[in-house]
This record gives sequence, structure tokens and C-alpha cells, in this order.
Amino acid sequence: MSGAAGPDPARSGPAATDLVIIGAGGFARETAQAVRAANADDVARGRAPRWRLTGHLDENPALHGRDVDGVRVLGGSGLVHDLPGTRVVVCVGNPRDYASRARLVRRLKLPEDRYATVVHPTAAVSDSSVLGPGTVLLAHSVLTAAVLVGAHVAVMPHVVLTHDDVVGDFVTIASGVRLGGGTRLERGAYVGSGALVREATTVGAWSLIGMGSTVLGDVPPGEVWIGSPARRLREAGAPALAELRAASAGGAEGQDAGRGPATRMGSPVT
Ligand SMILES: CC(C)(COP(=O)(O)OP(=O)(O)OC[C@H]1O[C@@H](n2cnc3c(N)ncnc32)[C@H](O)[C@@H]1OP(=O)(O)O)[C@@H](O)C(=O)NCCC(=O)NCCS
Repeated sequence: MSGAAGPDPARSGPAATDLVIIGAGGFARETAQAVRAANADDVARGRAPRWRLTGHLDENPALHGRDVDGVRVLGGSGLVHDLPGTRVVVCVGNPRDYASRARLVRRLKLPEDRYATVVHPTAAVSDSSVLGPGTVLLAHSVLTAAVLVGAHVAVMPHVVLTHDDVVGDFVTIASGVRLGGGTRLERGAYVGSGALVREATTVGAWSLIGMGSTVLGDVPPGEVWIGSPARRLREAGAPALAELRAASAGGAEGQDAGRGPATRMGSPVT
């Protein structure tokens, strides 16, 4: 290896694609690291780096013009409309408001092909698995066989998804989660760090599983479950319940609520 830092025109492969990350918080910065790692891996393999990370976009005006981990915050999320050739990932959300990613994607109204899929080079994704647009897979995640992952899904480090798992759009899977085979995480569900989910179990839409929990049976939509074995703690927070109600009311949000990974077979992993 030469150890050269810049792109070498002699390297094979297409030119880098411009990418912006929406959000500048923890998950967004982790995604920026995954992008850097993917580029470094490309260079190590003699290819041109795939991404040119042009910046973060964030609604906090205090961050505009500042750098986070060396990447400039260019402005608010609305700037994506002025950057037509640039791919986008939306990297917002936390356990208190894990519906924020869905709200932002809905507000931006971008076509699906504007969204990038970011995969850390240490993630192991089987050929029979599919990842949707806007989805991010962080380091050392494993998708064993025929795993369907929808759009705008956040998969944190060291997550193991096993055969025939189905993960709906806007799901968040925190670090160290392990799912048994044939498990379904419905749209918008949040599975906290280190949780275990028994095989052939369903976690309902917009429900949250507490960190370290062991889920042995189906969890209904819109609830928070904790413990080992997991039991109901309370109903989900207001933002998650609002998504659920909008879907059951069949409004604009509801119309795409049924769109899951199964309708996206063949989505490219880019
Ligand atoms: C489940 C969760 C949302 C509950 O938060 P909360 O509504 O603020 O609840 P509280 O912290 O007030 O706890 C309520 C009760 O549940 C218990 N509890 C909370 N989280 C628990 C968990 N993960 N496992 C077992 N018990 C838990 C508390 O001990 C408390 O019990 P008590 O009433 O007997 O004292 C939160 O604890 C959690 O697990 N969030 C996910 C965090 C995570 O995975 N982050 C990923 C990276 S950002």
C-alpha cells in the first residue's frame, strides 16, 4: 500500500458521489465515521472512494457554519433542495423521540433515489439480504440470510439480524441487539441496546423495547416493554403514538404505512 491520502485518478471505479448527512448529533456523527471507513476501505482495495461527504445539515442555527468532527454544518435540512445531485441520509432520532426521522423524511418529500444506503465496511451483509434507501448499518453488524431491511432504518454497531428477519421502515436497532430468525420489527419500532428478541416474534409498529430486555412473545403496536422476560411498562410516547394514529387514520402518512421492505426487493446496497 502506498498510504496516499487523496483519490488517485488511476484507481478503478466511478467518481465519488456527493453525500450530505441530515442531523449533526450522535447518530449523524457515527454515520460520518462509517462513510469515512467505507472510503478508506475503497482506497485500501485500490478503488476510488465512493463518497464525498460534503457536510451535515441540521435545524440548530447555532451549528451552522461550524464543524462537527471535522465536517461542516452547511445549514438547515431544507438546503437539500438546493443540492440536486447530492445523496442524503437522515440521521436523527433518540429513545425519547424516535419518530423524528419519519417526520423529517415526510417533510422533505425527496424522491427515494435521493437517499443513500450507508454500510460500514466491517458489516457482514449476506447476498440474500436487502437494505432500503436511507438505511445506515454501523460497524460489525451482521445480516445472516434473507434479511429484509426497509427504508431509513438505523442499525447501530454489533447488531445481529438472523435468517428471514423483516425490519420495517424507520425502525431503530440500538447497539448489540440480537434477533432470532423470522422476527418482524414493524414500522418505526425502537429496540434498545442489548435487547434479545425470540425467533418468530413480532414487535409492533412504533413500540419501544427497553435496553437489555428479553422479548419472548409478540409486542403490540405503540407500547413500551421492558425486562427479562419483557413486560408492558406503559404506552409509547406522544410522537410515536401520533405516527401510529396517523397510519390507522389512513392519511398521507397512512398511505405509505404499508410499504415495507417486502415491496422493495432488489433495492441496491450502495
Ligand atoms: C424503557 C425506557 C424507555 C424507559 O424509560 P422511562 O419511561 O424514562 O422509564 P424510567 O427510567 O422512569 O423507569 C420506569 C421503570 O422501569 C424500569 N426500567 C426502565 N428501563 C428499564 C430496562 N431497560 N429494563 C428493565 N427495567 C427498566 C425502571 O427501573 C423503573 O422501574 P421502577 O418503577 O420499579 O423504579 C428506557 O429505560 C430505555 O431502556 N431506553 C432505551 C435506551 C437505549 O437503548 N438507548 C440506545 C442508545 S441511545
